[in-house]
Amino acid sequence: MNIFKLEDLSISEISDLLDLAEEFKSGKKLNYNGEKIIANLFFEPSTRTHYSFDTAALRLGCKTLNFDASNSSLKKGETLYDTIKTFESFGCDALIIRATENEYYNHFPNKINIPILNAGDGTGNHPSQSLLDLLTIRQEFGSFENLSIAIVGDIKHSRVAHSNIDIMKRLGMNVYISGPEEFREDAYEFCKLDDIIDKVDIVMLLRIQNERLEKSMSITPENYHRLYGLNVERVNKMKSNSIIMHPAPFNRNIEIADDVVECSKSRIFKQIENGVFVRMAMIYSALEK
Ligand code: CP
Repeated sequence: MNIFKLEDLSISEISDLLDLAEEFKSGKKLNYNGEKIIANLFFEPSTRTHYSFDTAALRLGCKTLNFDASNSSLKKGETLYDTIKTFESFGCDALIIRATENEYYNHFPNKINIPILNAGDGTGNHPSQSLLDLLTIRQEFGSFENLSIAIVGDIKHSRVAHSNIDIMKRLGMNVYISGPEEFREDAYEFCKLDDIIDKVDIVMLLRIQNERLEKSMSITPENYHRLYGLNVERVNKMKSNSIIMHPAPFNRNIEIADDVVECSKSRIFKQIENGVFVRMAMIYSALEK
């Protein structure tokens, strides 16, 4: 089973993955006894996704290979496809891939015969992040129907936003989008954060993706924080049982104030913790289905 984007999965398949992740979190043990090899092929930088997939594979008793793009034959001009095909030829059982190009996996349909789990494609999709976000929300609220979320920040460059907006709407959530005009996408209606901050159950901040900007932001970091950032004053306006999420890494004091990162409403490190269990479920499904 490949997982490229959540759009390809039914609600029932997504629920099954979340249930399995919850079982792993509750102590379900499954051990491949070193008989499966999982390769982590990250062609873009990552801390959380890379090493939580690695932790997940190790917890399942798999062996892992961690590709070092900066010291590889990519430097000699080898292509993404040839690199991926090489790891398949080694006898790996599944590949975890992050790459810069949107939908990189469409360039080699049916040419890789082992499962691929998409660990993020450009500004396209980030299915494992969405699943861990959904698990965190379900643990908090029990279900998704009629929950309201504000997704705030660099919508245009965010594969997290693109994955989440689609699946959250499919699950019956009310999704509000907010952020600077320069990060607007025509597909989404933007609203002002201060108009919705007291109405939503979840505020999800997004990192400004400086590495993807064609030119520097038109506003200063200070003004960004003042207009769109989550500061203590805004947190105090949130509903009593509401929560704060961020996929991380975060730019402290730009999209989120230092004091807010670990405040009582923040679930940011819980999201990271849940990432391991969700990725265990994804690897198990990839190997067994
Ligand atoms: N949230 C996330 O994808 O973080 P990394 O880029 O560190 O993997």
